Amino acid sequence: MKSIAFGVCGVGRFGTQHCRYFSEDRNKYELVAICDLDPARLSTVTAKFGGKSYTDFAEFLANPEMELAIIATRSLDHARNAEQALAAGKTVLLEKPIGLTANDYQLLRQLDQQYPGKLYFCHNHRFEPAFGNAREIIAQGLLGQLQVVKLCKHHDFMRRNDWQMRLDCGGGQLSVWGPHLLDQGLQLLDAPVREVWSYLRRVLTPGDGDDHVKISLVGENDVVVELEISNSVALAGPYCTIYGDRGTLLYGQEQKTIHLKYLDPQFGWPDAVADSGPAAGKSMCADRNLPWIEETRDVTPDTDMWAHVEIAIANHLHDAMRGGIPFPIRNAEALEVVRITEIVKKQNSQFHWLQ
Ligand SMILES: NC(=O)c1ccc[n+]([C@@H]2O[C@H](COP(=O)([O-])OP(=O)(O)OC[C@H]3O[C@@H](n4cnc5c(N)ncnc54)[C@H](O)[C@@H]3O)[C@@H](O)[C@H]2O)c1
Repeated sequence: MKSIAFGVCGVGRFGTQHCRYFSEDRNKYELVAICDLDPARLSTVTAKFGGKSYTDFAEFLANPEMELAIIATRSLDHARNAEQALAAGKTVLLEKPIGLTANDYQLLRQLDQQYPGKLYFCHNHRFEPAFGNAREIIAQGLLGQLQVVKLCKHHDFMRRNDWQMRLDCGGGQLSVWGPHLLDQGLQLLDAPVREVWSYLRRVLTPGDGDDHVKISLVGENDVVVELEISNSVALAGPYCTIYGDRGTLLYGQEQKTIHLKYLDPQFGWPDAVADSGPAAGKSMCADRNLPWIEETRDVTPDTDMWAHVEIAIANHLHDAMRGGIPFPIRNAEALEVVRITEIVKKQNSQFHWLQ
Protein backbone atom coordinates (compact mmCIF):
# COMPACT_ATOMS: atom_id res chain seq x y z
CA MET A 1 0.00 0.00 0.00
CA LYS A 2 1.34 3.42 -0.97
CA SER A 3 2.42 5.53 2.01
CA ILE A 4 0.69 8.89 2.49
CA ALA A 5 2.82 11.78 1.19
CA PHE A 6 2.32 14.54 3.73
CA GLY A 7 3.37 18.10 4.39
CA VAL A 8 3.31 20.25 7.51
CA CYS A 9 2.61 23.97 7.50
CA GLY A 10 3.87 25.72 10.64
CA VAL A 11 6.85 23.95 12.14
CA GLY A 12 6.99 25.66 15.49
CA ARG A 13 6.73 23.89 18.79
CA PHE A 14 4.00 21.51 17.71
CA GLY A 15 4.26 21.22 13.93
CA THR A 16 7.76 19.81 14.51
CA GLN A 17 6.19 17.06 16.63
CA HIS A 18 3.94 16.17 13.69
CA CYS A 19 7.01 15.97 11.40
CA ARG A 20 8.66 13.67 13.90
CA TYR A 21 5.86 11.28 14.81
CA PHE A 22 4.17 11.01 11.41
CA SER A 23 7.59 10.22 9.87
CA GLU A 24 8.25 7.37 12.28
CA ASP A 25 6.55 4.64 10.26
CA ARG A 26 7.77 5.06 6.68
CA ASN A 27 5.33 2.41 5.50
CA LYS A 28 2.49 4.73 6.47
CA TYR A 29 3.71 8.27 5.88
CA GLU A 30 6.39 10.09 3.92
CA LEU A 31 7.22 13.73 4.65
CA VAL A 32 7.47 15.55 1.32
CA ALA A 33 6.94 19.24 2.14
CA ILE A 34 7.42 21.68 5.00
CA CYS A 35 6.27 25.28 5.12
CA ASP A 36 7.09 28.02 7.60
CA LEU A 37 7.40 31.78 7.43
CA ASP A 38 10.64 31.60 9.42
CA PRO A 39 13.46 30.50 7.06
CA ALA A 40 15.85 29.61 9.90
CA ARG A 41 13.30 27.30 11.56
CA LEU A 42 12.42 25.86 8.19
CA SER A 43 15.99 24.89 7.39
CA THR A 44 16.54 23.36 10.86
CA VAL A 45 13.41 21.21 10.54
CA THR A 46 13.95 20.14 6.91
CA ALA A 47 17.59 19.25 7.73
CA LYS A 48 16.28 16.93 10.43
CA PHE A 49 13.24 15.39 8.76
CA GLY A 50 13.65 15.99 5.01
CA GLY A 51 11.01 17.23 2.56
CA LYS A 52 10.96 20.26 0.24
CA SER A 53 10.91 23.58 2.02
CA TYR A 54 8.56 26.49 1.37
CA THR A 55 8.04 29.89 2.91
CA ASP A 56 4.90 30.52 0.86
CA PHE A 57 1.71 28.64 1.75
CA ALA A 58 0.28 28.73 -1.81
CA GLU A 59 3.51 27.26 -3.23
CA PHE A 60 3.50 24.60 -0.51
CA LEU A 61 -0.07 23.67 -1.46
CA ALA A 62 0.94 23.44 -5.12
CA ASN A 63 3.32 20.56 -4.33
CA PRO A 64 1.85 17.82 -6.55
CA GLU A 65 3.22 14.93 -4.47
CA MET A 66 1.58 16.01 -1.20
CA GLU A 67 -1.71 14.24 -0.43
CA LEU A 68 -2.14 15.29 3.20
CA ALA A 69 -1.53 18.81 4.57
CA ILE A 70 -1.17 19.12 8.34
CA ILE A 71 -1.98 22.67 9.45
CA ALA A 72 -0.17 23.74 12.63
CA THR A 73 -0.01 27.49 12.07
CA ARG A 74 -1.24 30.03 14.60
CA SER A 75 -4.73 29.36 15.83
CA LEU A 76 -6.39 32.38 14.25
CA ASP A 77 -5.44 31.15 10.73
CA HIS A 78 -6.56 27.54 11.07
CA ALA A 79 -9.99 27.61 9.44
CA ARG A 80 -8.89 29.75 6.48
CA ASN A 81 -5.72 27.68 5.99
CA ALA A 82 -7.87 24.54 5.92
CA GLU A 83 -10.14 26.12 3.31
CA GLN A 84 -7.14 26.93 1.08
CA ALA A 85 -5.64 23.44 1.44
CA LEU A 86 -8.95 21.71 0.67
CA ALA A 87 -9.45 23.95 -2.38
CA ALA A 88 -5.97 22.86 -3.54
CA GLY A 89 -7.17 19.24 -3.46
CA LYS A 90 -5.41 18.16 -0.27
CA THR A 91 -6.71 16.10 2.59
CA VAL A 92 -6.32 18.19 5.76
CA LEU A 93 -5.49 17.44 9.37
CA LEU A 94 -6.28 20.65 11.24
CA GLU A 95 -4.78 21.52 14.61
CA LYS A 96 -6.89 22.70 17.50
CA PRO A 97 -8.44 25.15 18.11
CA ILE A 98 -9.97 24.26 14.75
CA GLY A 99 -11.88 27.55 14.70
CA LEU A 100 -11.67 30.74 16.76
CA THR A 101 -14.65 32.81 15.72
CA ALA A 102 -18.33 32.41 14.83
CA ASN A 103 -17.30 32.89 11.17
CA ASP A 104 -14.72 30.10 11.50
CA TYR A 105 -17.45 27.85 12.90
CA GLN A 106 -19.71 28.52 9.90
CA LEU A 107 -16.81 28.07 7.48
CA LEU A 108 -15.78 24.74 9.00
CA ARG A 109 -19.36 23.45 8.87
CA GLN A 110 -19.52 24.41 5.21
CA LEU A 111 -16.13 22.78 4.43
CA ASP A 112 -17.19 19.62 6.21
CA GLN A 113 -20.20 19.38 3.85
CA GLN A 114 -18.29 20.45 0.75
CA TYR A 115 -15.32 18.08 1.14
CA PRO A 116 -16.61 14.83 2.66
CA GLY A 117 -13.83 12.56 3.92
CA LYS A 118 -11.14 15.21 3.35
CA LEU A 119 -11.14 17.20 6.58
CA TYR A 120 -9.89 15.78 9.89
CA PHE A 121 -9.58 17.51 13.25
CA CYS A 122 -6.65 17.03 15.62
CA HIS A 123 -8.34 16.53 18.99
CA ASN A 124 -5.45 14.27 19.87
CA HIS A 125 -5.94 14.25 23.65
CA ARG A 126 -8.93 11.99 23.09
CA PHE A 127 -6.21 9.32 22.97
CA GLU A 128 -4.58 9.96 26.35
CA PRO A 129 -3.99 6.51 27.89
CA ALA A 130 -5.56 7.44 31.26
CA PHE A 131 -8.67 8.80 29.53
CA GLY A 132 -8.96 5.57 27.52
CA ASN A 133 -8.54 3.46 30.69
CA ALA A 134 -11.20 5.52 32.49
CA ARG A 135 -13.66 4.99 29.64
CA GLU A 136 -13.07 1.24 29.79
CA ILE A 137 -13.79 1.25 33.55
CA ILE A 138 -17.01 3.21 32.94
CA ALA A 139 -18.03 0.81 30.16
CA GLN A 140 -17.53 -2.14 32.56
CA GLY A 141 -20.16 -0.54 34.79
CA LEU A 142 -17.97 -0.39 37.93
CA LEU A 143 -19.00 3.20 38.66
CA GLY A 144 -22.69 2.62 37.90
CA GLN A 145 -24.66 5.50 36.38
CA LEU A 146 -22.41 8.57 35.90
CA GLN A 147 -23.46 11.70 37.78
CA VAL A 148 -20.58 14.17 37.69
CA VAL A 149 -17.37 14.42 35.65
CA LYS A 150 -14.67 16.89 36.66
CA LEU A 151 -11.68 17.55 34.40
CA CYS A 152 -9.05 20.01 35.61
CA LYS A 153 -5.88 20.99 33.79
CA HIS A 154 -3.77 22.75 36.40
CA HIS A 155 -0.51 24.34 35.28
CA ASP A 156 0.80 25.40 38.71
CA PHE A 157 1.80 29.08 38.64
CA MET A 158 2.68 29.24 34.96
CA ARG A 159 2.96 32.87 33.84
CA ARG A 160 2.94 31.85 30.21
CA ASN A 161 4.21 34.75 28.10
CA ASP A 162 4.01 33.67 24.46
CA TRP A 163 1.38 34.48 21.79
CA GLN A 164 -0.86 31.79 23.25
CA MET A 165 -1.74 34.23 26.06
CA ARG A 166 -2.70 37.10 23.69
CA LEU A 167 -6.24 37.30 22.38
CA ASP A 168 -5.22 39.22 19.24
CA CYS A 169 -3.07 36.20 18.30
CA GLY A 170 -5.80 33.67 19.05
CA GLY A 171 -4.53 32.77 22.53
CA GLY A 172 -6.12 32.32 25.97
CA GLN A 173 -6.65 29.01 27.75
CA LEU A 174 -10.14 28.60 26.28
CA SER A 175 -8.32 28.11 22.94
CA VAL A 176 -5.17 26.44 24.27
CA TRP A 177 -6.46 23.64 26.54
CA GLY A 178 -10.19 24.31 26.14
CA PRO A 179 -10.62 22.15 23.01
CA HIS A 180 -8.97 19.15 24.70
CA LEU A 181 -11.02 19.33 27.88
CA LEU A 182 -14.25 20.07 26.04
CA ASP A 183 -13.63 17.12 23.73
CA GLN A 184 -12.99 14.75 26.64
CA GLY A 185 -15.88 16.18 28.67
CA LEU A 186 -18.35 15.80 25.79
CA GLN A 187 -17.27 12.21 25.25
CA LEU A 188 -17.94 11.41 28.90
CA LEU A 189 -21.18 13.38 28.92
CA ASP A 190 -22.41 11.21 26.05
CA ALA A 191 -25.61 13.20 25.47
CA PRO A 192 -26.64 16.48 23.84
CA VAL A 193 -25.71 19.51 25.95
CA ARG A 194 -28.73 21.15 27.62
CA GLU A 195 -27.01 23.95 29.55
CA VAL A 196 -23.67 25.78 29.50
CA TRP A 197 -22.41 27.97 32.34
CA SER A 198 -18.95 29.50 32.40
CA TYR A 199 -16.74 32.05 34.07
CA LEU A 200 -13.33 33.03 32.72
CA ARG A 201 -10.69 35.21 34.32
CA ARG A 202 -7.22 36.59 33.78
CA VAL A 203 -5.26 36.07 36.98
CA LEU A 204 -1.53 35.86 36.35
CA THR A 205 -0.76 35.90 32.67
CA PRO A 206 1.20 38.86 31.32
CA GLY A 207 -1.07 38.72 28.24
CA ASP A 208 -4.75 39.71 27.98
CA GLY A 209 -5.98 36.13 27.50
CA ASP A 210 -7.99 34.05 29.94
CA ASP A 211 -5.74 31.96 32.19
CA HIS A 212 -8.45 30.58 34.48
CA VAL A 213 -11.37 28.86 32.80
CA LYS A 214 -14.39 27.33 34.50
CA ILE A 215 -17.10 25.71 32.38
CA SER A 216 -20.06 23.58 33.50
CA LEU A 217 -22.11 21.56 31.04
CA VAL A 218 -25.34 19.76 31.83
CA GLY A 219 -26.44 17.01 29.46
CA GLU A 220 -29.94 15.98 28.42
CA ASN A 221 -29.17 12.91 30.57
CA ASP A 222 -28.65 15.19 33.66
CA VAL A 223 -24.93 14.32 33.84
CA VAL A 224 -22.86 17.36 34.90
CA VAL A 225 -19.42 18.01 33.43
CA GLU A 226 -17.20 20.56 35.19
CA LEU A 227 -14.10 21.75 33.39
CA GLU A 228 -11.32 23.86 34.87
CA ILE A 229 -8.14 25.08 33.24
CA SER A 230 -5.87 27.22 35.34
CA ASN A 231 -2.41 28.75 35.30
CA SER A 232 -2.90 29.90 38.88
CA VAL A 233 -3.20 26.82 41.08
CA ALA A 234 -0.17 26.32 43.29
CA LEU A 235 -1.35 22.94 44.61
CA ALA A 236 -2.69 21.06 41.62
CA GLY A 237 -5.82 18.96 42.15
CA PRO A 238 -6.70 15.72 40.35
CA TYR A 239 -6.94 15.88 36.55
CA CYS A 240 -10.02 13.71 36.39
CA THR A 241 -12.69 12.81 38.96
CA ILE A 242 -15.81 10.88 38.03
CA TYR A 243 -18.73 10.19 40.36
CA GLY A 244 -21.08 7.36 39.52
CA ASP A 245 -23.92 6.03 41.68
CA ARG A 246 -21.79 2.96 42.54
CA GLY A 247 -18.33 4.47 42.90
CA THR A 248 -15.75 7.12 42.17
CA LEU A 249 -12.66 7.23 39.96
CA LEU A 250 -9.85 9.73 39.98
CA TYR A 251 -6.43 10.31 38.49
CA GLY A 252 -3.86 13.05 38.92
CA GLN A 253 -2.21 15.54 36.59
CA GLU A 254 0.63 13.08 35.95
CA GLN A 255 -1.93 10.52 34.66
CA LYS A 256 0.06 7.50 35.79
CA THR A 257 -2.35 5.73 38.18
CA ILE A 258 -6.12 5.53 38.50
CA HIS A 259 -7.63 5.40 41.98
CA LEU A 260 -10.98 3.61 42.20
CA LYS A 261 -13.46 3.02 44.99
CA TYR A 262 -16.62 1.17 44.04
CA LEU A 263 -19.29 -1.09 45.45
CA ASP A 264 -18.96 -4.84 45.00
CA PRO A 265 -20.76 -5.49 41.69
CA GLN A 266 -22.84 -8.21 43.46
CA PHE A 267 -24.20 -5.71 45.99
CA GLY A 268 -27.76 -4.41 45.62
CA TRP A 269 -29.16 -1.58 47.77
CA PRO A 270 -31.58 -2.91 50.41
CA ASP A 271 -34.85 -1.00 50.77
CA ALA A 272 -34.65 2.01 53.07
CA VAL A 273 -36.90 4.91 53.98
CA ALA A 274 -36.07 8.35 55.36
CA ASP A 275 -37.72 8.69 58.81
CA SER A 276 -39.70 11.89 59.51
CA GLY A 277 -39.36 11.57 63.36
CA PRO A 278 -36.78 13.29 65.65
CA ALA A 279 -33.20 12.62 64.53
CA ALA A 280 -31.62 12.51 68.05
CA GLY A 281 -30.50 9.08 69.19
CA LYS A 282 -30.94 7.44 65.80
CA SER A 283 -28.50 6.44 63.08
CA MET A 284 -28.40 8.88 60.17
CA CYS A 285 -27.34 6.21 57.75
CA ALA A 286 -29.28 3.30 56.28
CA ASP A 287 -26.18 1.31 55.33
CA ARG A 288 -23.08 1.56 57.53
CA ASN A 289 -21.01 -1.31 56.20
CA LEU A 290 -20.92 -1.04 52.47
CA PRO A 291 -18.90 -3.64 50.53
CA TRP A 292 -16.32 -1.27 49.07
CA ILE A 293 -13.59 -2.34 46.71
CA GLU A 294 -10.69 0.09 46.57
CA GLU A 295 -7.91 -0.20 44.01
CA THR A 296 -5.08 1.76 42.46
CA ARG A 297 -4.45 0.69 38.89
CA ASP A 298 -1.46 1.59 36.75
CA VAL A 299 -2.43 3.43 33.58
CA THR A 300 -1.66 1.35 30.51
CA PRO A 301 0.23 1.62 28.30
CA ASP A 302 2.89 3.19 30.52
CA THR A 303 4.23 5.58 27.92
CA ASP A 304 4.96 9.22 27.21
CA MET A 305 1.48 10.72 26.87
CA TRP A 306 2.50 13.30 24.24
CA ALA A 307 4.11 10.71 22.00
CA HIS A 308 1.20 8.34 22.51
CA VAL A 309 -1.49 10.81 21.41
CA GLU A 310 0.52 11.79 18.33
CA ILE A 311 1.14 8.20 17.24
CA ALA A 312 -2.52 7.37 17.86
CA ILE A 313 -3.74 10.20 15.66
CA ALA A 314 -1.27 9.24 12.90
CA ASN A 315 -2.43 5.61 12.98
CA HIS A 316 -6.13 6.47 13.04
CA LEU A 317 -5.71 8.92 10.16
CA HIS A 318 -3.87 6.29 8.12
CA ASP A 319 -6.64 3.77 8.83
CA ALA A 320 -9.21 6.32 7.67
CA MET A 321 -7.37 7.43 4.52
CA ARG A 322 -6.15 4.02 3.38
CA GLY A 323 -8.48 1.54 5.09
CA GLY A 324 -11.79 3.43 5.01
CA ILE A 325 -12.08 2.93 8.80
CA PRO A 326 -14.07 5.81 10.34
CA PHE A 327 -11.81 8.33 12.08
CA PRO A 328 -12.71 8.20 15.80
CA ILE A 329 -12.95 12.00 16.13
CA ARG A 330 -16.12 12.63 14.18
CA ASN A 331 -16.33 16.07 12.63
CA ALA A 332 -19.69 16.76 14.26
CA GLU A 333 -18.05 16.16 17.66
CA ALA A 334 -15.20 18.57 16.94
CA LEU A 335 -17.65 21.18 15.64
CA GLU A 336 -19.67 20.85 18.84
CA VAL A 337 -16.53 21.89 20.75
CA VAL A 338 -16.41 25.09 18.67
CA ARG A 339 -20.15 25.71 19.15
CA ILE A 340 -19.80 25.50 22.93
CA THR A 341 -16.67 27.66 22.86
CA GLU A 342 -18.71 30.35 21.09
CA ILE A 343 -21.36 30.19 23.86
CA VAL A 344 -18.63 30.52 26.51
CA LYS A 345 -17.19 33.57 24.73
CA LYS A 346 -20.63 35.24 24.68
CA GLN A 347 -20.99 34.52 28.42
CA ASN A 348 -17.61 36.20 29.05
CA SER A 349 -17.86 39.45 27.15
CA GLN A 350 -15.38 41.05 29.60
CA PHE A 351 -12.70 39.65 27.23
CA HIS A 352 -11.96 41.25 23.85
CA TRP A 353 -12.44 38.14 21.74
CA LEU A 354 -11.39 38.11 18.11
CA GLN A 355 -14.42 38.60 15.86
N1 LIG B 1 -2.88 19.26 19.57
C1 LIG B 1 -2.04 19.64 20.50
O1 LIG B 1 -1.84 18.92 21.47
C2 LIG B 1 -1.31 20.93 20.36
C3 LIG B 1 -0.22 21.22 21.19
C4 LIG B 1 0.46 22.43 21.02
C5 LIG B 1 0.03 23.33 20.04
N2 LIG B 1 -1.06 23.02 19.28
C6 LIG B 1 -1.56 23.99 18.28
O2 LIG B 1 -0.60 24.10 17.24
C7 LIG B 1 -0.60 25.43 16.74
C8 LIG B 1 0.83 25.93 16.70
O3 LIG B 1 1.28 26.05 18.05
P1 LIG B 1 2.83 26.13 18.38
O4 LIG B 1 2.95 26.08 19.85
O5 LIG B 1 3.57 25.14 17.55
O6 LIG B 1 3.15 27.63 17.87
P2 LIG B 1 4.50 28.20 17.27
O7 LIG B 1 4.39 29.68 17.30
O8 LIG B 1 5.66 27.55 17.94
O9 LIG B 1 4.47 27.69 15.76
C9 LIG B 1 3.68 28.24 14.74
C10 LIG B 1 4.54 28.24 13.48
O10 LIG B 1 3.71 28.56 12.36
C11 LIG B 1 4.46 29.39 11.51
N3 LIG B 1 3.49 30.10 10.66
C12 LIG B 1 2.54 30.96 11.06
N4 LIG B 1 1.80 31.36 9.99
C13 LIG B 1 2.30 30.73 8.93
C14 LIG B 1 1.98 30.74 7.54
N5 LIG B 1 0.99 31.47 7.04
N6 LIG B 1 2.72 29.98 6.71
C15 LIG B 1 3.72 29.24 7.19
N7 LIG B 1 4.08 29.18 8.48
C16 LIG B 1 3.38 29.93 9.33
C17 LIG B 1 5.28 30.28 12.44
O11 LIG B 1 6.41 30.84 11.81
C18 LIG B 1 5.66 29.26 13.54
O12 LIG B 1 6.90 28.63 13.24
C19 LIG B 1 -1.50 26.25 17.66
O13 LIG B 1 -2.71 26.53 17.02
C20 LIG B 1 -1.73 25.37 18.87
O14 LIG B 1 -3.01 25.54 19.41
C21 LIG B 1 -1.71 21.84 19.41
